[in-house]
Amino acid sequence: MTSGAEPVPIEVVPTGFALGAEIRGVDVRKRLPPETAAALREAWKQHLVLLFRGQTGLTDEQLIAFTEVFGPLQDAPNSEVTANFGSFRDVPKEVTIISNIEVDGRPIGALGAGEADWHTDMSFIDEPPAGSCLYAIEVPPSGGNTSFTNMHRALDTLDADTAGAVAEAWCVHDESLTSTGAQRRGVPEVTDVRETPGARHPVLRTHPDTGRKALFLGRRRNAWLVGFDVDESERLLDRLWTHAADEDHVWEHRWRAGDIVLWDNRAVMHRRDPFDPATRRLMHRTQVAGGRPF
Ligand code: OGA
Ligand code: MN
Repeated sequence: MTSGAEPVPIEVVPTGFALGAEIRGVDVRKRLPPETAAALREAWKQHLVLLFRGQTGLTDEQLIAFTEVFGPLQDAPNSEVTANFGSFRDVPKEVTIISNIEVDGRPIGALGAGEADWHTDMSFIDEPPAGSCLYAIEVPPSGGNTSFTNMHRALDTLDADTAGAVAEAWCVHDESLTSTGAQRRGVPEVTDVRETPGARHPVLRTHPDTGRKALFLGRRRNAWLVGFDVDESERLLDRLWTHAADEDHVWEHRWRAGDIVLWDNRAVMHRRDPFDPATRRLMHRTQVAGGRPF
């Protein structure tokens, strides 16, 4: 038996920053031979964020098949705009639309045109996705760049006092706000961080595939280090977030239509710049399923 597909040698071009690599020589529309798929998984382990350019015209089915190279998929997150997706077009249950575009006054996707502050996707659930994959269909002329920060590096370079203080700590990952700071429908506003709703995870986690330790943070607002005095928790969290966002650990991606970017939520936080709401940005997004952080 033959798969009919010849192994394709891929080219891995690191960004030169603390994480991320562009992969060349892959047409993700085609079914990838096992050797190529394995090489991509290896590159993902090493570089944490992978960029594939020039993939215009991809169907949702092709995006899903490509994401499955990295593991079984997790269904799209339940968001307040999900109910509106049908107003624009139908997408499979594995796909989320990320867009500021409105049709008949209703947003067709999530996150609008505002800033999305540093976060880890869906870390407010017990088993957050291992990875997220964003495919750019339309990009604005400027703004809307997405940045990634290497949380292995953030931990490795953390000062000893802070590292010692959080070594055994757990953090609550707020589920009341979206990554653009909007209140989720039906979830009460947090007035005391000790009552923040959301999963509790260790602040230091171990990557299940590489065994490397990483700092694991979800969202800054409404975070609380479980059991700490609120003042001490705020002081330590400010320190952790400032350090994690240090430009030494960051790579910023400027989108072109046809780009696919896949990031590892177990070792990377990300943020997005705002952009002019009068311009259009349209992304389709998939997620690789994950397990409970440890
Ligand atoms: C996301 C996200 C950032 C962007 O889809 O989880 O944070 O650039 N997107 O749209
Ligand atoms: Mn996100």
